[in-house]
Amino acid sequence: MCSGIWSTGEASGLSSTSILSIKNLSYAFSGEEIGKSIFQNISMNVLPGEFVSVIGASGSGKSTLFKLIAGLLEPDQGQIWINGQKSGKRLGKVGYMPQKDLLLPWRTVADNVMLPIEISKEKKQEKTSEISEGLNRFGLAGFEKAYPHELSGGMKQRVAFLRTIMTGRELLLLDEPFGALDSMTKHNMHSWLLELWEDLQKTVLFITHDLEEAILLSDRIFLLLDKGAIKELKVEIPRPRRSELIYQTEFIAMRKELEMLIHNEK
Ligand SMILES: Nc1ncnc2c1ncn2[C@@H]1O[C@H](COP(=O)(O)OP(=O)(O)OP(=O)(O)O)[C@@H](O)[C@H]1O
Ligand SMILES: [Mg+2]
Repeated sequence: MCSGIWSTGEASGLSSTSILSIKNLSYAFSGEEIGKSIFQNISMNVLPGEFVSVIGASGSGKSTLFKLIAGLLEPDQGQIWINGQKSGKRLGKVGYMPQKDLLLPWRTVADNVMLPIEISKEKKQEKTSEISEGLNRFGLAGFEKAYPHELSGGMKQRVAFLRTIMTGRELLLLDEPFGALDSMTKHNMHSWLLELWEDLQKTVLFITHDLEEAILLSDRIFLLLDKGAIKELKVEIPRPRRSELIYQTEFIAMRKELEMLIHNEK
């Protein structure tokens, strides 16, 4: 049985057990008028091992939120804690997969996946077997020497995702990883991602426009509303979840609830 429980209280406040804690964050791009900031005083917590989706209209600030968490942007006000540490230097503390796959076109699949190892100056030889195991797992065996332009959209996304995992970070930020995929490929990627997440026990923050995807994959959903207000929905559907769930009455009811919230009908 699933039920939607909306609250803002639980998402706020610092917690020592959270892998990510955001407290009273405000942010505006420079040059913006006062009152037109993207975020005003938002707070949220993510617990280790959680799968949390972020949804919201185009332009509501989802990618900006990820850039702030990843340390590519700095908050105007407020704090971002990762693993209980209030760190000014967040760059490299999380695995970040940007909205575009950003594979380097002149590098092969294997060399794209090796990139985080090179950046962190770890020994490449020690990671070679881990990478070939990953390529196998991600259905990319035999494509080690292929270049990005030789891959399908879904394969490119898997390479970018494997590269994000190779950062070795506990917290993964995935910005619309399946946004450009057709529904059949997406369907396969969901089953694959659910299995992988259950195995790897990573914490995932996941941006999507797809409500079914958000409900199917997540423990909680953060809905970004106007002026950076956040609402939170708990998805209390037992795991393991399979994609057939989307036809169940509880699932459909939850989707409707979410749609009403998005369109301010509730
Ligand atoms: N570098 C920038 N300089 C100024 N404004 C920006 C910059 N990047 C984004 N914005 C603005 O900030 C707002 C939020 O952008 P953001 O990319 O975070 O939205 P989003 O929710 O990820 O949208 P989408 O769903 O289309 O990816 C938009 O109004 C956008 O125009
Ligand atoms: Mg975006």
